Amino acid sequence: MSTLIKNIQCLVGTRIENELLRSKDLSILPCIENAYLIIEGKNISAYGSMDDLKETSKHSFDEVIDAKGSFLLPTWCDSHTHLVFAGSRENEFVDKLNGLSYAEIAAKGGGILNSAKKLNDATEEELFLTAWKRLEELSKLGTGAIEIKSGYGLTLDAEIKMLRVIKKLKEKSSLTIKSTFLGAHTFPLEFKENHEGYINILINEMLPVIAKEKLADYIDVFCEIGFFSVDEMERICKAGLQWGLKPKLHINQLNSIGGIQSAVKMNAISADHLETMTDADIADLSNSNTIGTLLPTAAFFLRMPFQPARQMIDRGCAIALASDYNPGSSPSGNMNFVVALSCIQMKMLPEEAINAATINAAFAMEVEKELGSVQIGKKANFIFTKPLHSLSYIPYSFGTNLIDRVMINGEFIN
Ligand code: NIG
Ligand code: FE
Repeated sequence: MSTLIKNIQCLVGTRIENELLRSKDLSILPCIENAYLIIEGKNISAYGSMDDLKETSKHSFDEVIDAKGSFLLPTWCDSHTHLVFAGSRENEFVDKLNGLSYAEIAAKGGGILNSAKKLNDATEEELFLTAWKRLEELSKLGTGAIEIKSGYGLTLDAEIKMLRVIKKLKEKSSLTIKSTFLGAHTFPLEFKENHEGYINILINEMLPVIAKEKLADYIDVFCEIGFFSVDEMERICKAGLQWGLKPKLHINQLNSIGGIQSAVKMNAISADHLETMTDADIADLSNSNTIGTLLPTAAFFLRMPFQPARQMIDRGCAIALASDYNPGSSPSGNMNFVVALSCIQMKMLPEEAINAATINAAFAMEVEKELGSVQIGKKANFIFTKPLHSLSYIPYSFGTNLIDRVMINGEFIN
C-alpha cells in the first residue's frame, strides 16, 4: 500500500539527524512549506517540496490524500503517564477547593492509597476497558506513543494486574506503548513503619514475576520526603537493573533531596517532574545523559511553581514534556494543553515545546528510531491540523482543538 499526501501547507519536524536536542538546538524545528510525503505500508518513504514532486509520479499511488491547508506534525510522544487507574478523585479536588490540606485529605484515605483501594477492587477487564477508552481519546488528541506506569496496585497481585492490563493495551493498540513498574509509588499503610518489609516484596516477590512475564520496560520510584528516600530508590533501581529494567524516576516534585544526583549516577533514562530544582540540580542534570521530563499540568493542577524550563534549557539540560495523566495530580492527558502551558507558563518557545513533546520525548521513552520526527523509515504517525497560519497559533490558541485528524502507522484513526 502506497500513499501520497500532497499540498501539505507545512510539514513539521523534517530532521536529517536523530539527536536529543539541548540548548539552542531545541528551538530549531525544521519544516518544509508546501510539501508532499509518501508512505509505503506503515512508514515514511519520501518527502519534499511539492515543486520537486514529479507530475508522472502523482498517478502511481494506491491512495492520494490532499492535505490542503493542514500542517502535519509528528504525533506527540507522552513519555510519563499513569493511564491505568480505577475511578476518579474529584471528591478530593472539591475537598481541596474547600480548604482541606494534603495531610487532611490523606487522613481521610485520599491520595495514591485512595486510587490503590479502587484499583484493588477493579477487575482486569474493567481496568482494560477504561484505559482503552482513555487511550482512544488521547489518540484523537494526537498522542501516538505513550508510557504507562503501574503503581496503584501496591500488592503483588494488583501490581501484576495493572502491568498485565498495560501488556494487553500494547498488544491491542496501534499506538506505541512502553510499560513501567512503579510498585515504589508509596508505602501501603501496613508498611508505613516497615519500609524494609515492602522493599523486600518489591525486590524479591514482584520483580521476578514481572521479569518472567516480561511485563515492564522500565522501573520507577517516587523519590520524595514521606515516600521513598534516595537510598531506598537506589536499592530498588539496582534490583530492577538486574532484571534489565532501566530507571525512569519521579524526582524533585516537592523537595530537592539528592534525587537528581542519584538519577544521573544511575544513568536513568529520565528524571521526571522537577518542580523543585536547585542550581546544583540543574548543573548536574545538564552534565548528564538523563532527560529532564517536565510535567507542567501536574504543577498547574496542584498550583505549584512551574518547572524552571527556561533555566534548564539555557543551561543545557535535555528536556522533554509529558502529561503525567493520573487521577490525583493531572487528570488530563491532553498533550496539546501540555505544549500550550509550557509556552504560556514556562516561557518555552513553540518550537521548543513541540520538539520537547516529539523528538526529545521519543528519546525519553526510547522510541526515537521509529517516532518523534519526519524521517525516512520512521512510522507514518501524523497530526493533521485544521487550516492554520502559523505553528505558534497552536500553543497560542490553547484549549481550542486544532486537530483535524490523526494518522497512526499510515492509517487515519476513527
Ligand atoms: O506523578 N507524584 C507521584 N505520583 C503521581 C500522582 C499520584 C496520585 O496522586 O495519584 C504524579 O504526580
Ligand atoms: Fe507521575
